[in-house]
Amino acid sequence: MSLPQHVRLVEVGPRDGLQNEARPITLAQRMELVDRLSAAGLNHIETGSFVSPRWVPQMADSAAVFDGIQRRPGVCYSALVPNLQGMQAAIAAGATEVAVFASASEGFSQRNINCSINESLQRFAPVMALAAEQGMAVRGYLSCVLGCPYDGPVAPEQVAAVSAELLAMGCYEISLGDTIGVGVASATRQLIEVVSQKVPRDQLAGHFHDTYGQALSNIYAALLEGVSVFDSSVAGLGGCPYAKGASGNVASEDVLYMLSGMGISTGVDLEQLVATGQWVCRLLERENGSRVGRALGKA
Ligand code: HMG
Ligand code: MG
Repeated sequence: MSLPQHVRLVEVGPRDGLQNEARPITLAQRMELVDRLSAAGLNHIETGSFVSPRWVPQMADSAAVFDGIQRRPGVCYSALVPNLQGMQAAIAAGATEVAVFASASEGFSQRNINCSINESLQRFAPVMALAAEQGMAVRGYLSCVLGCPYDGPVAPEQVAAVSAELLAMGCYEISLGDTIGVGVASATRQLIEVVSQKVPRDQLAGHFHDTYGQALSNIYAALLEGVSVFDSSVAGLGGCPYAKGASGNVASEDVLYMLSGMGISTGVDLEQLVATGQWVCRLLERENGSRVGRALGKA
């Protein structure tokens, strides 16, 4: 299969990134982060999540973030929602679209959202119904597609089965999450071979955490399998609070550098993205998780 000419990047730094940063930043800084990312050309930005603030305190006040950003025409400002309560909050906040999230493994489902995989899918039914009523698109995340911190290996057939359920419920795209970054390129290719028997490749996205330094090669493997949507996080921020050892997502700057070097367009400006990564790392007082950001960024 030949490589795509264009890739759609979904920037998840303001949600997946900040949800796991120990040092809080202010609401104004959260808004500025989103605005800088849209100015850099990212047109899908996961801006926050409407989950229990007791579970993920970093995402409390996501409504205020949605309220304060400067909305650029054509940019999708999405929100993560676990249930109807979250969906109602996302609508009230003016999210462009929402994402529901399930797990391919039972252990992670219990730890992350306190219910089984089947129960989580049942909780999504009223979310999907309300979304349809509002004309809102719903993205589906599936976690632990290449391994679970609690249950160990996860069979590609299991990933395919839950992906198919999310698709049947009405998700327009399934983002396959290597939550703990354990996958390697060959496993990624095999996974997509199996999952694509149930979900068309043009409705799959890749969401790779970079815990073991495999994310870029997994993205390349997924590109070769015909996937052309990838989630990434500026400066490689974050991780998942309910997945021990999970480090940040693959850094957006690193993905962009690789794609543009391969002649694949994204519409994103690398220089502005690098500057944004440097800026947010200074606020968070953390090292820049992007190798490209460190190489190109000014001190
Ligand atoms: P629960 O305790 O079983 O929920 O949590 P509950 O329905 O029994 O409600 C308990 C309390 O939570 C109640 O409040 C509810 O109002 C409140 P109380 O009466 O005790 O004061 N509550 C809510 N509050 C705000 N917003 C809501 C909401 N729902 C209930 N939407 C629940 C179940 C799902 C709520 C909880 O487990 C939760 O919030 N989990 C979220 C965990 C999370 O956000 N994890 C990180 C995101 S997933 C991720 O990062 C993976 C991903 O990046 C892909 C990958 O990398 O693999 C997407
Ligand atoms: Mg994630």
